[in-house]
Amino acid sequence: MYKELAKYYDLIYSWKDYKKETVKINKLIKKYKNSDGNKLLDVACGTGKHLKYFKKNFSCSGIDLNEEVIDIAKTNVRDVSFNQADMINFNLNDTVDIIICLFSSIGYVKTYDNLEKTIRNFADHLKTGGIAIIEPWFTKSTYTVGYPGMTTYNGEDIKIARLNTTKLENNLSVMEMHYLIVERDKDVKYFVDRHEVGLFEIDKFLEIMNNSGFKAEFLKDGLMKDRGLYIGIKS
Ligand SMILES: C[S@@+](CC[C@H](N)C(=O)[O-])C[C@H]1O[C@@H](n2cnc3c(N)ncnc32)[C@H](O)[C@@H]1O
Repeated sequence: MYKELAKYYDLIYSWKDYKKETVKINKLIKKYKNSDGNKLLDVACGTGKHLKYFKKNFSCSGIDLNEEVIDIAKTNVRDVSFNQADMINFNLNDTVDIIICLFSSIGYVKTYDNLEKTIRNFADHLKTGGIAIIEPWFTKSTYTVGYPGMTTYNGEDIKIARLNTTKLENNLSVMEMHYLIVERDKDVKYFVDRHEVGLFEIDKFLEIMNNSGFKAEFLKDGLMKDRGLYIGIKS
């Protein structure tokens, strides 16, 4: 999805209201941020759809593991710097006031060991009083195994059907996404795209944040149903 299929990302997620999400995150930033500055870093920024709105209020930058989505972000959003980097070990030689990591991207670090490295890295890149806002993937108890998922996109020149199942393998949430894609004047293409995502428990997540230099809390009422949001203020 984030490599060969990156060009379909914005179509597959065209149902997602990035503007509305940004309004909600802006309110949280106003409420919790204690540093004076205006710098925002979007970690695992994907195609830059949140940054398109955040750039009106903040001096923004974005990082993502995959060049393919970054290339799209660069055409979606102007005047924002994008860099290829892994959230587990990136080093920007800079500190910011706000780090956001949304749409469950944090789950791709898979293990608690990597989660700890990532959260420490977030803390190292924040000014005192700055905040991290992280939208997690499900926990083991909120994740449904065997759920039949379907997403479609029905454009004039391109149609996409994506079906998936949800499995649990070695404590990871595993989703095999089966894509059928047809574009005007082209043959139908079929892809299978496997995602392995960590299921992190709330108490352990908060413990890792608190041990990494944050004063952390979990908000049940987040952006998407049953996912919630972690807020950490850098002490
Ligand atoms: C579900 S998408 C979310 C993208 C974007 N934040 C959004 O809301 O549309 C997950 C993103 O995480 C990125 N990603 C996965 N593992 C990563 C890592 N270790 N470091 C940085 N980005 C990563 C993927 O390339 C992808 O763009």
